Amino acid sequence: MPEDTPDVPLDPTSLRLAAASALIRRRRTIKPEQMDNRAVDKRFVAAILENANWAPSHALTEPWRFTVFTGEAREDLAAFLRRLYVLKTAEEDFREDKLEKLGINPLRADVAIVIGMKRQDSEKIPEVEEIEAVACAVQNMHLTASAIGLGAFWSTPPIVYTAEMSKFIELDPERDQCLGIFYLGWPEEAGSDEKAESAEDDKWPKGKRGSVAEKIIWKE
Ligand SMILES: Cc1cc2nc3c(=O)[nH]c(=O)nc-3n(C[C@H](O)[C@H](O)[C@H](O)COP(=O)(O)O)c2cc1C
Repeated sequence: MPEDTPDVPLDPTSLRLAAASALIRRRRTIKPEQMDNRAVDKRFVAAILENANWAPSHALTEPWRFTVFTGEAREDLAAFLRRLYVLKTAEEDFREDKLEKLGINPLRADVAIVIGMKRQDSEKIPEVEEIEAVACAVQNMHLTASAIGLGAFWSTPPIVYTAEMSKFIELDPERDQCLGIFYLGWPEEAGSDEKAESAEDDKWPKGKRGSVAEKIIWKE
């Protein structure tokens, strides 16, 4: 080793922290209308679901369940969502644009994963904790998608919380719950915008957050 090698911080902790912070802050919601029709390799979907499975859960109940729609099956999902919206939406809340979007989203995104929460038989762990565990799993999915460069969107229109939706994904409507749809697809190329083409990261949407200091109470 040359004598003038600087004492750079290459310890694993700082490298892991830098990598984790970069990925967490890079994770962005990218909606189906911003996705193009390039196919998502099934191995990427498998990696995303594998990482979901490493989420924490109280008593290791692992309450997350996934129903993956790809190819023509997405048309079944789109048709079901539209039917459910018509069935469940009060006349005063009905919006034609929302109905249309429910039919379009599963077809614009190459993969639509319907997220389920399944209670354990004993129901000892409170429902809220099972929902929290599934949210951790979805965050793992979203982080993994962002690491790959895939667009992802956790969508929760009110119809996902209905008994019909639970049954649709083979869950028990009395105990279990659908927690939304996770859309996955490649983000649309930036097109002819020269500035956006100058660097890969310029195409990725920028996030926005308020100050964390306002959300913290320190007690010493
Ligand atoms: C539990 C949950 C449900 C969400 N449901 C919706 C939704 O139904 N529609 C929507 O436009 N965005 C939804 N979002 C995405 C948020 O709009 C998005 O996370 C927020 O705008 C911040 O953007 P970012 O994810 O790029 O940081 C949801 C996010 C979470 C965590």
